[in-house]
Amino acid sequence: MFSQQPKIENQRLNHPVFDRYGFEVHVKREDLIHPQISGNKYRKLKYNLSEAQSQNHHTLLTFGGAYSNHLAATAAAGKKMGFKTIGLVRGEELSAKFWQNPTLAYCASQNMQLEFISRQSYRLKHTSEWLEKIDNQYGRVYVLPEGGTNTLAVKGCEEILTPQDAFFDVICCPVGTGGTLAGLINSSSPHQHVIGFSALKGTDIQEEIRKFASNNRWSLESDDRFGGYAKINSILVTFINQYFDQTAILWDPIYTAKMVFGLIEKMKTNQWKHGKKILLIHTGGLQSISGMNQWLRQKGWPSIHQPV
Ligand SMILES: Cc1ncc(COP(=O)(O)O)c(C=O)c1O
Repeated sequence: MFSQQPKIENQRLNHPVFDRYGFEVHVKREDLIHPQISGNKYRKLKYNLSEAQSQNHHTLLTFGGAYSNHLAATAAAGKKMGFKTIGLVRGEELSAKFWQNPTLAYCASQNMQLEFISRQSYRLKHTSEWLEKIDNQYGRVYVLPEGGTNTLAVKGCEEILTPQDAFFDVICCPVGTGGTLAGLINSSSPHQHVIGFSALKGTDIQEEIRKFASNNRWSLESDDRFGGYAKINSILVTFINQYFDQTAILWDPIYTAKMVFGLIEKMKTNQWKHGKKILLIHTGGLQSISGMNQWLRQKGWPSIHQPV
């Protein structure tokens, strides 16, 4: 499934604010690469899974939270390519009724073995003690880090941009662990600036990005507006739904919607100083909408449109 370079179109985006201030904004529809292994997940898994094959591994082991796009994509790609997959899930409390969580139920449907671990233990997952424990417990496994970010993932993300994208002044993408942003930074043209819109509050992740980035033509915006990872409100839900009604493009609530919302806010308040020709990367993640809608229903709030 990774043998051919996906052919992804850029699409011009409409919004009254873009027109009012003279911006030309396009989106790269990486969300259309594959129904289950979409966006940056496809890019991050490509070289990792071929490395796992060439090292003759039979099992992939990785980590993620309740809505994790990375867990879902690893489960799907692993099944397609004949790997056994193990997912270590943050939160022991999820184990009692994980089948009610759409992401975890999907992972299980792809034969992923799910193991639920406490949040405290999860925080230690990259320590050498933990990796040793994994070795003892699961035997010889190919470990993909949380969010799938490592050197091979960054190499895959370097393939998102094409020579035609040199047309743009600015490239924007959402940020979690920073691997996608690093790939874009490395393959951007010298006249371009790359901006990451973090799904998390704060910009601590910058150190991590610097480890993978080959130049300094980039910056990071923190999610101060919505309060951090997976935090959303009815304003964001309305934004996603209205945008979909007007353009048929669906943004996910955790990553891409916050990027587009953040960009428009900056333009409206005259804080955008980075150039008029802008390319946004749609990194996928639409599978998380079902889980988020469960939470919205509990609150009595309107739901987000489901992907068709
Ligand atoms: C849909 C989506 N967009 C963006 C990101 C952020 O990517 P990264 O972790 O490489 O910063 C993620 C998480 O990996 C994601 O699932």
